[in-house]
Amino acid sequence: TANLPSWPYSRHIAHRGGGRLAPENTLAAMRVGAEHGFTMFEYDVKLSRDNVLVLMHDDDVDRTSNGKGPAAAKTYAELAQLDFGSWHSAAYAGEPLPTFAAVARYTLANGIASNVEIKPCPGREAETGRAVALAARDLWQGADTAPLLSSFAEEALEAARQAAPELPRALLVEKVPADWRDRLAKYECVALNINQKDATRELIDAVHAAGYRIAAWTVNDPERARLLLDWGIDGIFTDELAAIRPAA
Ligand code: G3P
Ligand code: MG
Repeated sequence: TANLPSWPYSRHIAHRGGGRLAPENTLAAMRVGAEHGFTMFEYDVKLSRDNVLVLMHDDDVDRTSNGKGPAAAKTYAELAQLDFGSWHSAAYAGEPLPTFAAVARYTLANGIASNVEIKPCPGREAETGRAVALAARDLWQGADTAPLLSSFAEEALEAARQAAPELPRALLVEKVPADWRDRLAKYECVALNINQKDATRELIDAVHAAGYRIAAWTVNDPERARLLLDWGIDGIFTDELAAIRPAA
């Protein structure tokens, strides 16, 4: 369709960097994603207590590290002492928590595009959206492909829009709201990122007809991936990097 926003991204996106093959949201995960031929990664970014942007999915460090408690309560120095690899497998023991800046540099140096999911600690939505947008503007200055910023937190998306309106944004939704057109317009998004369970040919067509791109998480069944790509979806986030990957 002629009036769709430009989409310089791969249709195959490695979820959390390395899917299930490596500890999520680490540089080790990024290396695994790159080895599998992925040229676009999704990862989750939040603020430490002392305002350092780091990659982490959960509110608490318990699941993905050897530490305990909310990430929001820890300084970067405290987070940097934790092991974010052993929970996955012994091969990744000692893998550190990466900063957003380190991952931005890694992706840029390796020709990889980024979907930066703004994943704020509870109560820090606006400041996290603003911090991610300003850091992204700075880190990607002069780069060919801008990072796509996304969030379930609309307050974070709005703060990102105000801080760096030129960076492309996607609205992430757990369930597709009836007023998705209004919300995409409000935050000046280029894309709607949906749960793959909600993906239908009709929805993909309707989003395209409204002038937006559409991507779906998390697609781990190769047959489902093929179907969504056949329907013309613009991106699929996958954990199954061996089975669902860009053509070599
Ligand atoms: O950004 C796509 C997907 O990562 C959203 O869900 O919980 O995996 O961050 P979650
Ligand atoms: Mg995510």
